[in-house]
Amino acid sequence: MTSVLEMNDVVVRRGARNIVDNISWTVNDDERWVILGPNGAGKTTLLQIADTMMFPTTGTVDVLGERLGKTDVFQIRPFIGFASTALARRIPADETVLNVVLTAAYSVLGRWNEQYEPIDERRAMRVLAEWKLDGLADRVFGTLSDGERKRVQVARAVMTDPELLLLDEPTASLDLGAREELLQLLTGYAQAPSTPAMIMVTHHVEEIPVGFTHVMLVREGRAVAQGPLRETLTRENLAETFGFPIAVVEHRGRWVARAEAPIFA
Ligand SMILES: Nc1ncnc2c1ncn2[C@@H]1O[C@H](COP(=O)(O)OP(=O)(O)O)[C@@H](O)[C@H]1O
Ligand SMILES: [Mg+2]
Repeated sequence: MTSVLEMNDVVVRRGARNIVDNISWTVNDDERWVILGPNGAGKTTLLQIADTMMFPTTGTVDVLGERLGKTDVFQIRPFIGFASTALARRIPADETVLNVVLTAAYSVLGRWNEQYEPIDERRAMRVLAEWKLDGLADRVFGTLSDGERKRVQVARAVMTDPELLLLDEPTASLDLGAREELLQLLTGYAQAPSTPAMIMVTHHVEEIPVGFTHVMLVREGRAVAQGPLRETLTRENLAETFGFPIAVVEHRGRWVARAEAPIFA
């Protein structure tokens, strides 16, 4: 077991506010973490630090054994997979699904003049099949359904066989069917022996895939609690995270939460 991400006393200050406020956190290579918390809690900021796209104001961050600020981040970025809606917005609508996934091997969005190796094309086709996209390789990204687009984003993020996979709200805005399809694929992926460490951001406990092992609850930049899912995702911790009593139940590895009492009494 080795740590792929280590934050010590990390603060990110913007203006007069700490949007990340003294977080210490270790992610090991055999763990799959969920970051859960309300809008504006600092979840995306934490993922951007893990993605080496943002540096802390104070504190230290080690990603894949390298200290941010003391290493060439371009050396470690190829080993990190990242999927987010912000990144997806930059995918050209007329790019084919195969190319969206294939270009990840070259860290570019949109095919230009790169020469691709047959081995990369074969891997891209295999990844498309894994994420149930093999019938769509020649379709252009702009014509896909929301669910298919999300699966393409995840497929692109895993194309390079990363050592750390970061997913920012991968199931946000999906309908029930598309959400469940993606969650099942994420579960299959999370349970495969060769799977990298994963960190997934969400604000719904219903969107935690089976097979995830740990959770960090964040509120206003602070870690309310962190640790193994079962012992950490409690009504007390959820209450502190969201600001009122929340009942939570587990059912066969999935989670359901609701307010325990009228909120506007
Ligand atoms: N560059 C910035 N300058 C000022 N505030 C920012 C900046 N980036 C993010 N924030 C604020 O920091 C907080 C945390 O943002 P974010 O990490 O995106 O939260 P989350 O993903 O949990 O919704 C939000 O209140 C957001 O408005
Ligand atoms: Mg966010």
